[in-house]
Amino acid sequence: MKRTHHCAQLTSANLGSQAALVGWVDSIRDHGGIIFIDLRDRKGITQVKFDPQDNAELGTRAAHLKPESVIAVAGLVEPRPEGTVNPSLPTGEVEIAASTLEILNVSETPPFPLDDAGGDKVNEDLRLTYRYLDLRRPKMRKNLQVRHRVSKSIRDYFDAQEFIEVETPALFKSTPEGAREYLVPSRIHPGQFYALSQSPQQFKQILMVAGVEKYFQIARCFRDEDLRADRQMEFTQVDVEASFIDREGIYALFEGMLKKVWKDVLNHDLPTPFPRLAFHDAMNRYGVDKPDVRFALELVDFSETFRKSSFKVFASTVADGGVVKALNAKGLADLTQGETKSLEEIAKSLGAKGLAFIKIEGGEWKSPIVKFFSDAEKAELTTRLGLADGDIVFFAAAPWEKACAILGRLRLEAAALLVKRGKLTLRPDDWRFLWVVDFPLMSYDEAENRYVATHHPFTAPVEADAAFLDSDPKKVRGQHYDVVLNGMELGGGSIRIHQPALQKKVFEDVLKIPADVVESRFGYMLKAFTYGAPPHGGIAFGLDRMVALLCGTTSIRDVIAFPKTQKGQDLMAQSPTPVTAKQLKELHIQTVMPE
Ligand code: AMO
Ligand code: AMP
Repeated sequence: MKRTHHCAQLTSANLGSQAALVGWVDSIRDHGGIIFIDLRDRKGITQVKFDPQDNAELGTRAAHLKPESVIAVAGLVEPRPEGTVNPSLPTGEVEIAASTLEILNVSETPPFPLDDAGGDKVNEDLRLTYRYLDLRRPKMRKNLQVRHRVSKSIRDYFDAQEFIEVETPALFKSTPEGAREYLVPSRIHPGQFYALSQSPQQFKQILMVAGVEKYFQIARCFRDEDLRADRQMEFTQVDVEASFIDREGIYALFEGMLKKVWKDVLNHDLPTPFPRLAFHDAMNRYGVDKPDVRFALELVDFSETFRKSSFKVFASTVADGGVVKALNAKGLADLTQGETKSLEEIAKSLGAKGLAFIKIEGGEWKSPIVKFFSDAEKAELTTRLGLADGDIVFFAAAPWEKACAILGRLRLEAAALLVKRGKLTLRPDDWRFLWVVDFPLMSYDEAENRYVATHHPFTAPVEADAAFLDSDPKKVRGQHYDVVLNGMELGGGSIRIHQPALQKKVFEDVLKIPADVVESRFGYMLKAFTYGAPPHGGIAFGLDRMVALLCGTTSIRDVIAFPKTQKGQDLMAQSPTPVTAKQLKELHIQTVMPE
């Protein structure tokens, strides 16, 4: 039997004609002996009727069909009887009166319901074990389609901008300064290893030396990180690099791409340009470098107010060079004891010595520390925090970075508690993009006792700051930028160093990587740069994260056809697995099991 239509196609316009459909039995109902089947294919659903009065043998066979079996049916397109029209289906006005039925394959009973609501309630491990069934659910099918639309939209955009897609190797060499890598043993070079590419960073820069000028790639990347809802061990980047471009050029290029994707996929007009926020201001006001700016609850600095305070905890922190910052969690004075305790624990896990707070209830300030505050201090808190009845203020007295981080986290927790109480609404489709810029080029790693690159060692310093590279690397801003959306880092990149001498200096003098190590890891790159490297810069975007946001899900596993679990397993194919002694021998590998 040859399919004439798909299952979302037939309408009243087809009444009276013959049609043949193929697909899966979505559901089966018996209404007084008449069998109705919802037949499903990738496009939709069509109702098929088997009336035993027309054909008894056919009716009996239909009655015994099992859900999810694959069938082909043909028959006359008829109007549905009055009262049974389904306006929510494109095919809701018609049904097929079946005259033939072919059973192409019988299905076992699925281990979980394949409708959206039923499937959502099922344990994710079960869904991942039977991913081929999970992907039959309308929601998952739609996610795959959105992912395709996004990739297509991105490819069209860059093609129109005259970028070319170039594939770079997945098997690369080990460069241990990034995330932890996956190593691949070499059979023909005993004892030597490839590393799976963490990102095409070095290749895309080499492509600029090669004169490609405009490169992009929808690239698979591999990182051996602890997995979370927004992290997989293999994930996909929209990776871009261009020559003769500056930061403004990158901002405009990427805003254009996002505008097109949001228009193509959601028919939504994103306003551009996106606001920009300096790293320092992001930390100071929101306590993170990827702020969710859909709500205010900003942090306020009170170091000067408490410099001479009689509350010694605050005054001594300021005397030691730290800060006192406060967060007014507006309307959250009704915190339960349990909630307060858990906020305190979160603060302590981030290194807080304590979590001073003030509740304002019935016009009264309730707090064990309020007795230490002068009237002037109270007046300043009231005006600068806009204090009102029902508010609760949290304080962090600590070095600047720690105080910001503690209150930044509490700000997110407070927002979640306000949402839970219905006092705050955070719409996922309130798309608040922003560029976070002016990151420090280097951060000091206390444990390693040396500077490390904030982003990666290829990022160029802001020209005006480059003079401080030797004297005070902390002061140097990098030409780095992140794209942030509603509290999630979607992408990041930078203008790169293209002068071999400066790149060598950053590796050796600032990052203190020994010269021989620099030579063995990056020598080829430094050499390439001596052959006319153009000024260049780029960015990479988490495709999985972007598609997840567009699909309205918080887990990137929902938009990856075959993701790994939090424990890094593929439950369907069952990997990882042990391998044979012969395979190991061939690879010159011995395994030592942990105790
Ligand atoms: P970066 O390491 O910031 O930059 O990665 C870019 C973007 O990739 C996404 N991402 C991930 N998504 C899912 N799972 C992961 N484990 C994961 N890790 C990162 C994030 C992130 O913003 N080469 C540079 C880019 C450049 O400088 O051009 C890079 O890889 O959305
Ligand atoms: P203490 O004087 O140590 O009893 O602290 C008085 C109050 O201030 C308690 O509520 C502590 O939790 C809080 N507190 C102590 N140290 C800090 C700090 N560094 N930042 C914010 N609050 C603190």
